[in-house]
Amino acid sequence: MTVSMTHTVGSDGAKNGSDVVLDVRNLKVYYATPTGNVRAVDDVSFQVYDSEIVGLVGESGCGKTTTAMAILRLVQPPGRITGGQILLDGIDLATIQGADLRDVRWNKMALIPQGAMNSLNPVMRIHKQIADAIQTHEGRKPAKELKERIINLLATVGLPSRVYSMYPHELSGGMKQRACIAMAIALHPAIVIADEPTSALDVVVQRVVGETLLDVKERLGVSMIVIGHDMGLMAQLVDRLAVMYAGRMVEISPVETVFDEPLHPYTQLLIESIPSIKERKPLKLTEGLTHDLRNPPPGCIFQLRCPHVTDICREVNPPMRELRTRHFVACHLYE
Ligand SMILES: Nc1ncnc2c1ncn2[C@@H]1O[C@H](COP(=O)(O)OP(=O)(O)OP(=O)(O)O)[C@@H](O)[C@H]1O
Ligand SMILES: [Mg+2]
Repeated sequence: MTVSMTHTVGSDGAKNGSDVVLDVRNLKVYYATPTGNVRAVDDVSFQVYDSEIVGLVGESGCGKTTTAMAILRLVQPPGRITGGQILLDGIDLATIQGADLRDVRWNKMALIPQGAMNSLNPVMRIHKQIADAIQTHEGRKPAKELKERIINLLATVGLPSRVYSMYPHELSGGMKQRACIAMAIALHPAIVIADEPTSALDVVVQRVVGETLLDVKERLGVSMIVIGHDMGLMAQLVDRLAVMYAGRMVEISPVETVFDEPLHPYTQLLIESIPSIKERKPLKLTEGLTHDLRNPPPGCIFQLRCPHVTDICREVNPPMRELRTRHFVACHLYE
């Protein structure tokens, strides 16, 4: 493999203990359309442990954002959680309602949405936006205390204190993204979900934002789910990698193991497609789904693109199995 790591994980992939913070079980999210249900997330299970970053990868349309939105209970109609559990501190987020949901959503979880930096209010200074987030959920605070807290938050994400009084347009893309990270951690959530936090940034800035997330994780011990496409960045950033294909989870593994020995044919293609200067290779990955998400084939979800497909793949959906320590794969090749 060609990507260098900037941090090490234990052999079992759990870096700072192995308490489960978030436990997603058999999650299903469907979008109702006139021609049938789009199975955007179809029976997905995974856990997020204490103080770890899980990277969620997979091609466009495979259900990454929908998974994130479901965890935060922000799926909009015609989308609906049709099955499964989302357990956080023993509470099932898939079913709680009203005030309970509001409490959990912002006090225990935070979202850095896809395209977050463009969602900053252009006519409001940074400190005001962060202060609003804090005071909406914690009530009014003395001005001095609030200011200190905001300047501390900015420092945590590597921003100088002068950003406090700036407007979004005065910040670079990377600084804006870091301001969004500061806002996300303002209420000390147990889990932060960042949806494509580095797309639309240049490579150097991507790296800075990646390092900011890593730093925040290490300093605050917060758990994160980072959604992304960039496998190089994933290698730099995450403790474990979760790979989705067409609404299903196909592989979950400690990051080094999966880069050294990807097991699922789709993950293998993803990793082989990382460009390398040393060795120029043709791209083997054909792009785009081969089936309609409203009408998945029986059996394995990857069968139509898999180079190793056999009869059983066309009939039986392979279950997730732990093939190596903490390395799970859903593939008939290994049975
Ligand atoms: N409102 C909707 N109605 C019908 N289908 C939808 C709706 N929103 C999303 N989908 C479908 O659900 C699937 C998953 O979408 P999702 O946005 O979760 O993918 P993603 O993995 O985040 O993709 P990207 O990498 O492009 O952000 C896609 O096939 C998409 O077309
Ligand atoms: Mg998305």
